[in-house]
Amino acid sequence: MSLLSKHKFIETNATVLLILSLLVVSVGGLVEIVPLFYIQNTIEKVKGMRPYTPLELAGRNIYVREGCYLCHSQMIRPLRDEVERYGPYSLAAESMYDHPFQWGSERTGPDLARVGGRYSDEWHVHHLTDPRSVVPESVMPTYGFMLHDVIDGKYIADVMKTNREVGVPYTDEQIANALADFKAQANPDADTSGLLKRYGDKVNVRNFDGQPQLTEMDALIAYLQVLGTMVDFSTFIPDASR
Ligand code: HEC
Repeated sequence: MSLLSKHKFIETNATVLLILSLLVVSVGGLVEIVPLFYIQNTIEKVKGMRPYTPLELAGRNIYVREGCYLCHSQMIRPLRDEVERYGPYSLAAESMYDHPFQWGSERTGPDLARVGGRYSDEWHVHHLTDPRSVVPESVMPTYGFMLHDVIDGKYIADVMKTNREVGVPYTDEQIANALADFKAQANPDADTSGLLKRYGDKVNVRNFDGQPQLTEMDALIAYLQVLGTMVDFSTFIPDASR
């Protein structure tokens, strides 16, 4: 049988054609799918990444609740104009504790992946309360109500446990101290040694919204101010050997 007639045999027998097609497709599928099971290996390990503190995590939940991702991405692409505007391009490891991730696909406003430390807390309070007061042409909605929404962190330990279920390595000690750490971060007079021991001494501890009571504004700003600041890019060397 010549090669051509073998092929004719395949093409004129629907069952054989089907079986062989499935075989070919599954080999292709396996080649694409199997590496995904080893995805851990493709996330570059970087120094400095840590799970969010309880207050930052609460702020992150507010960010998700308010749909900030509808107008803001959190992923700087490795393109020159983006890197010049926003800073070093985002690494996979930087969103490894984000469930769900906030990469987004729409930029009505700027990317926020590295907004941490770029503005003062007061700027954020003004901007969130009335964006037009600092950027006259802004189309961002107002979020001033957050200054009045007092939060007590009642459920924060549960939120941390839920995050642990999906892979964030919160320790038992971090969960046991969730409420204390939650309150301490926004109170410069509190004993913050436990908080800093558990999350590192780079954690921002201050009264974020400038009011005595702990509000959603404190939590949201604590979250915004940590975005993109965990990895020290002055010492980071991309691992090009992969
Ligand atoms: C309708 C779209 C829209 C939504 C929703 C939105 N923003 Fe914005 N945001 C913008 C636009 C446009 C700008 C740029 C103008 C300005 O600074 O106000 C901006 C700017 C910002 C900036 C300044 C970024 C920079 O680098 O200058 C921050 C921080 C920010 N937004 C946070 C948030 C947060 C937090 C939320 C959710 C609570 C949110 N935004 C929701 C449109 C939006």
